[in-house]
Amino acid sequence: MSARPVPRPGVLAIEAYVPGKSKAPAGVKVHKLSSNETPLGPSPKAMEAVRANAETLALYPDGTAGALREAIAAKYGLDPARILCGAGSDELLALLTSAYIGPGDEGLFSQHGFLVYRIAILAAGGTPVVAPERDLTADVDAILAAVTERTKIVFLANPNNPTGTYIPFDEVKRLHAGLPPHVLLVLDAAYAEYVRRNDYASGLELVATSDNVVMTRTFSKIYGLAALRLGWMVGPAHVIDAVNRIRGPFNVNAPAIAAGVAAIHDDAHLSAALAHNDEWLPALTREIEALGLKVTPSVGNFLLIHFPQEAGRTAADADAFLTGRGLVLRRVEAYGLPDALRLTIGDAEANRLVVEALGLFMRA
Ligand SMILES: Cc1ncc(COP(=O)(O)O)c(C=O)c1O
Repeated sequence: MSARPVPRPGVLAIEAYVPGKSKAPAGVKVHKLSSNETPLGPSPKAMEAVRANAETLALYPDGTAGALREAIAAKYGLDPARILCGAGSDELLALLTSAYIGPGDEGLFSQHGFLVYRIAILAAGGTPVVAPERDLTADVDAILAAVTERTKIVFLANPNNPTGTYIPFDEVKRLHAGLPPHVLLVLDAAYAEYVRRNDYASGLELVATSDNVVMTRTFSKIYGLAALRLGWMVGPAHVIDAVNRIRGPFNVNAPAIAAGVAAIHDDAHLSAALAHNDEWLPALTREIEALGLKVTPSVGNFLLIHFPQEAGRTAADADAFLTGRGLVLRRVEAYGLPDALRLTIGDAEANRLVVEALGLFMRA
């Protein structure tokens, strides 16, 4: 018998998720480029919806998030009964994991995959299994080779964070075709809106035609509502039913529901955010490469920049140098990428300052 309460096995094996920093030395203007938030901010319509909601904060929200599910369904041509909203897609990833994984079960994801998968699997008492990547990109053959009879979920972030890489939809279909039917394929499409590639699809078509595929989406990135914690998933009725049984009855708050409805209808804001990314993603890639740094080709709203292992020029050195100038990027050692920093595409001022500072750093 233990002298104090002891968490379940696995819990203390979790390295708690470390969010992107937002601090720099006093007196320096901070540009937070560490959490893949949009530099355009939220839709003005979403802000108005949140203000209007202040009047009714004493009331519980609609526990079904009905208005938001209807709005999402209308936008994507989905059945609202197959949609479930969550407090960020993080919550949905955790709920899916605890519904399908228990002690003795395995959850599978790729080498540099989003860290929340590992945390969710360990929290559920399961075993994380990692499939190697090729060129910092998910490798379908490696994932399939890692499947065992204990595998319950395969997570695929497409595009992936922090690498910014993606696999074409044909590859996603090949992954699905190779999985046993009892394995749930979770397509995490947090950055889908940013992708401009003809061979990419978020996978809604696969969700619609399969009994073991779900997709998670977020309002935190291109929609600029990260503070409200709002995400959604779409999947087969039996998966939605299972997750509905274990979620909190009011897991999504009322301002978030109202803001989500407003944001999803604001096409102009979405187009502006996309146009900004379309301009800066290639421009920053080019300009940073021109400084002699390697940049992984990204389809998201962020870039993975690789630094030499040479003293004075390492990722840690660069991080300190940039932070000193108020430019806060993300270290990614926890993803097995100690020599890289992740840069979120910021506003024009921040982007120019990053290029300038990296130039000074490389010439120092
Ligand atoms: C790949 C990926 N999935 C999911 C999320 C979680 O987003 P949220 O919980 O804000 O919806 C993130 C956030 O950074 C992400 O990068």
